Amino acid sequence: PVLPGADPSKLVITTTTTPKELTPNNELVFGKTFTDHMLSIEWTASDGWLTPRIIPYQNLSLDPATCVFHYAFECFEGMKAYKDKNGKIRLFRPSKNMQRLNKSSSRIALPTIDGDAFTKLIAEFTKIESRFIPNEKGYSLYLRPTMIGTQRTIGVGPPGSALLYVIASPVGPYYPTGFKAVSLEATDYAVRAWPGGVGDKKLGANYAPCIVPQQEAASRGFQQNLWLFGEEEYVTEVGTMNLFMAIKNKETGQKELLTAPLDGTILEGVTRDSVLSLARERLVPEGWAVSERKVRMSELAEASAEGRLIEVFGSGTAAIVSPVRNISYKGQLVDCGLQGHEEAGDIALRMKNWIEGIQYGEEEHEWSYVV
Ligand code: COI
Repeated sequence: PVLPGADPSKLVITTTTTPKELTPNNELVFGKTFTDHMLSIEWTASDGWLTPRIIPYQNLSLDPATCVFHYAFECFEGMKAYKDKNGKIRLFRPSKNMQRLNKSSSRIALPTIDGDAFTKLIAEFTKIESRFIPNEKGYSLYLRPTMIGTQRTIGVGPPGSALLYVIASPVGPYYPTGFKAVSLEATDYAVRAWPGGVGDKKLGANYAPCIVPQQEAASRGFQQNLWLFGEEEYVTEVGTMNLFMAIKNKETGQKELLTAPLDGTILEGVTRDSVLSLARERLVPEGWAVSERKVRMSELAEASAEGRLIEVFGSGTAAIVSPVRNISYKGQLVDCGLQGHEEAGDIALRMKNWIEGIQYGEEEHEWSYVV
């Protein structure tokens, strides 16, 4: 039998009796304050997805034996709702988040969900929380869809029940005072992901082990760590973001925008995909090459030493792009091409402007989903 999906027409809404005060835009801190409500859908193996509900934001009550606490049955998404200059709410490429959520959940024996139906429910949720979406460019409502296994058992097996919920946090620009290029430390004693592993899935369990290497880097004055992989020391990701490198080719002198390929060790970033698409559409006609290929840290260091490293930046939903000033690697500081006091390179700046233009509906584009 086909189990029920989460039917948006069955949505039940219970509004709060204690609405929160809005935090002034300039006091917003990423992920610290949340809206009045949450979207919540339970699932059981026997009945499928149950009635979707929007309820007042509240604590969860779970038995201490619940499987999420013991075996990390948890995956999540990160996406944003934007308010355009006409007051319309927009999502950015939600179908990408839906595809990735289903890839993540199915890898840890949690259920999948109809992406179109769930997007409609999220859209309804953003309408209810509309007053929390700042109508200023650079500001948005960060949405955190989260799925957990809720079966009460410490037996190791597929969860017989799950909860999918969405909470929302109003956020400001990642760099309120403009770009700040970051310094990275290349981590050589730990790896984030490995072939055949789950580094390409958005599992909470992928994030907790990244904090200590980040703290280690911070203790030596670096904002983030750069994840290398293998004897070849391939450059993979930066902190919780994908990484882009703009290099002038050693032989031909052609400018190339590079990022690691999706070989199973790289998170399939929505912003990563957007940067690649825009680069292929708008930079290739200017003479750029765009490639998804493995790049060794030594290749990056060599390009820098020879003055061929144009710029390096991270990409993610939270910051869009995050320019890199330099990378500490084997006791040397690899300069990433920013001139003097410059905080961002040209490609990072243009990407940010292009992507924001689409997110806020200034440029009509199929990536923007009008609620
Ligand atoms: C990003 O958007 O860069 C992220 O990885 C989200 C982060 C808060 C987990």
